[in-house]
Amino acid sequence: MGNPLQTLSLADLRRRSSEKWRRYPPDVLPLWVAEMDVPLAEPVARALTDAVALGDTGYPQGGADYASALAGFARERWGWAPKPEQTRLVPDVMLGVVEALRLVTGYGDAVVINPPVYPPFYDFIRSADRRVVEAPLGPDHRLDPDALAAAFAEAVAGGRQAAYLLCSPHNPTGTVHTADELAMVIELSDRYGVRVVADEIHAPLVCRGATFRPYLSMPGSGRGLALHSASKAWNLAGVKAALLVAGPAAADDLARMPKVAGDGASHLGVLAHTAAFRYSGPWLDELLAGLDQNRRLLGDLVAEHLPQVRYRPPEGTYLAWLDCRDLALPAGDTGAPADPAEVFLERGRVALVPGPAFGTNGAGHVRFNLATSPELVTEAVRRMAAALG
Ligand SMILES: Cc1ncc(COP(=O)(O)O)c(C=O)c1O
Repeated sequence: MGNPLQTLSLADLRRRSSEKWRRYPPDVLPLWVAEMDVPLAEPVARALTDAVALGDTGYPQGGADYASALAGFARERWGWAPKPEQTRLVPDVMLGVVEALRLVTGYGDAVVINPPVYPPFYDFIRSADRRVVEAPLGPDHRLDPDALAAAFAEAVAGGRQAAYLLCSPHNPTGTVHTADELAMVIELSDRYGVRVVADEIHAPLVCRGATFRPYLSMPGSGRGLALHSASKAWNLAGVKAALLVAGPAAADDLARMPKVAGDGASHLGVLAHTAAFRYSGPWLDELLAGLDQNRRLLGDLVAEHLPQVRYRPPEGTYLAWLDCRDLALPAGDTGAPADPAEVFLERGRVALVPGPAFGTNGAGHVRFNLATSPELVTEAVRRMAAALG
């Protein structure tokens, strides 16, 4: 099997038609959106090709098999088994987040998030007619209890309902929240009456040395809801399907979710995600070993070629959050320092995600996608260094 990150050539990858490979001209190395440069895990590819050969492309038959595959994976890896009867199929994680927010908050209510954070959190919360309240991560990239308490107090002011959209593990910093941190979240959310919705899409992508704790496995988390999907860990963003799981005290809320909310998941997505969770653990382990090498490689390369850039290796996800504030970049049009992502793109021909998209404290940072070959990680850093030269 081997490292899936070392299987495809750049020429193979450039034949892809997904957004990652088509947004920028061919001289740009695309390390931006969270897609991986890997072939599919063999059981996933087989599930899809078997379905295509059969013309099995109809409506999904509900998410029971997917839910039981997730339960098996979660039991084996995290010692937690979500109950299939408390699990519902949703089209994808972000639409599942929106459904969860609709279950536990009303029009105009607040949703607390921890910037810098996955940019669509802002867009989906607002498109669901909810308000964003920010509780920034601390400078150590960890949850800040004081910021959370202040945000929860603001969110429930006037007796309103409120939710907390927890990103666990955290995109873009790769922070894996500890059991103590999650216990703090439970204590604060109970104190303020805030409902927790945990986006756990990156959960399978945790490196050795860190331990992922599912939010709903924590004592006292029963009023929470969590989203799971094989989409990030097995690169299935193009075949959509996700699961919304309710804690025991949120089961009645989940039962109120309209049936149509699950209808947008694709049958091929359900088959692919089920095969990923049920049969593709060995492939995931090879991937995690490859990502571990890339995390260390990036550290060495940054230290050597970009010494002013600060890099804290992620504990989870395949994303690296690079602090470029100490780079002496030329002023941009407005007189403020140029956005480093713009400099790396224009002068280095490397596409990274600009930090400001991630909200408060994002400026001066870039998000670098490590899910590629060591050769392309090396080439990207070479280009970034050349852009500054
Ligand atoms: C934290 C987080 N949530 C959700 C998503 C998107 O998931 P989906 O395509 O299933 O909506 C991503 C994609 O990168 C993500 O990082």
